[in-house]
Amino acid sequence: MHWTSPESRSRALYERARHIFPGANTRQQVWMAPYPPYLVSGRGPSVTDADGNRYLDLTGNLGVLIHGHAHPLITAAIADQIGRGTCFALPTEAELRLGGLLCGRVPGFERLRFTNTGSEAVAVALRAARAFTGRSRIARLEGVYHGSDDVAAVSSSSTPANWGEEPASTARYPGMPPAILEQVRVLPANDIATTQRLLAAEGDSLAAILVDPVPARCGFEPLRGDYLALLREASRRHGALLIFDEVIAFRLGFSGAQGRLGIDPDLTALGKIIGGGMPIGAVAGREDVMAVFGNEREAARVPTSGTFTANPVSMVAGEAAMSLLDMTAFEHLERLGDFVRAGVRGVIGQVGVPAQVTGVGSLFLLHPHDRPILDYRSYHRSPAETEVMARLHRHLLEQRVLLTPAGSGFLASVMHPEDLEPFLAALPKALEIAFDHPLTRSTT
Ligand SMILES: Cc1ncc(COP(=O)(O)O)c(C=O)c1O
Repeated sequence: MHWTSPESRSRALYERARHIFPGANTRQQVWMAPYPPYLVSGRGPSVTDADGNRYLDLTGNLGVLIHGHAHPLITAAIADQIGRGTCFALPTEAELRLGGLLCGRVPGFERLRFTNTGSEAVAVALRAARAFTGRSRIARLEGVYHGSDDVAAVSSSSTPANWGEEPASTARYPGMPPAILEQVRVLPANDIATTQRLLAAEGDSLAAILVDPVPARCGFEPLRGDYLALLREASRRHGALLIFDEVIAFRLGFSGAQGRLGIDPDLTALGKIIGGGMPIGAVAGREDVMAVFGNEREAARVPTSGTFTANPVSMVAGEAAMSLLDMTAFEHLERLGDFVRAGVRGVIGQVGVPAQVTGVGSLFLLHPHDRPILDYRSYHRSPAETEVMARLHRHLLEQRVLLTPAGSGFLASVMHPEDLEPFLAALPKALEIAFDHPLTRSTT
């Protein structure tokens, strides 16, 4: 039964949710109008809803599930640990195994600290930079998503109405304290001249430059090499730290995005894939900086903790997932990414609509427009384009293909080109329907 049918199980669940959650949901990012299908299970590349419909899942829970759903080795590791206890108020060997594995992969990971989410990892990294430098201001790129921490969220929902000529510090929600906005210098991605000028003027006041080197809201493609080199050089010159947010981008190589791009940040925020499908985050980086969390000689200047931090279930799931992610797996993911992006490009060309696909490695992103994407402003969608994207997302879902509402896709090691064929087969009709609308016709 279709999930929007009045008799569907999803409909019944939605009706219950309306009386429990504001807006009937507890996770904005994955909500869709009028309501989404409710899921009951996932296996490999697909998920099944409460009415028995199966979908090709290209979301991988927003980039978490790099080996698909319920991978037998990860599930076995979790089941084994659950039988022996799920969380303890003392350390376990499991945290050493996952921490050691991650530090063994990236030369810059001299020390590491676990958190429970990527947002928490970003917040803790910013706090570490502040304690290390004794400065409070942060620079970050316009529009890029770094999770829910207040400072990190400044400008993450900028619009043409408020972003200003030079990127403005814009509030994430009404009432966000002006003191937080003043803590943040917003930089335009890939704009070397403006960034150079802003950093020359304000660099000495900065604790850190926070940057996702492959930001979704700049098209899931690496920032220009000379732009990243500028951020690396300027942060050193001004005594600020360079923090990479690799919560998503760590899936781009054996040594993460930094290995792939040849840039060595001082600190890195991690999350998503490193927990094998369980909640996780981590901060890793220079030993002298990480000493703010304490070492054998001194007490922590930045106390961090968390009831569930380094719980052994997340640790063993992460260890299993990361162990599976060897060079062969990365090569496979690269080929799969090239295959799907080329396929989508071919379909867009055939249908002849002003859409495009961007991305790198196991990431891809559909856009409801065809202007070149250099930064957040060129990525940003007008209301009409947002409508096109919503219709495209909905019509792919009708054909049993699940992308994120923003149009992003995350490939998994268990997928093969034949698993992706239903997506490529569904796309022509979905694009036609999405673009064939009076609102769109008048703007394109
Ligand atoms: C680049 C980036 N940073 C940080 C976060 C926040 O991670 P979490 O949702 O685990 O708090 C996300 C989440 O999507 C992200 O994409």
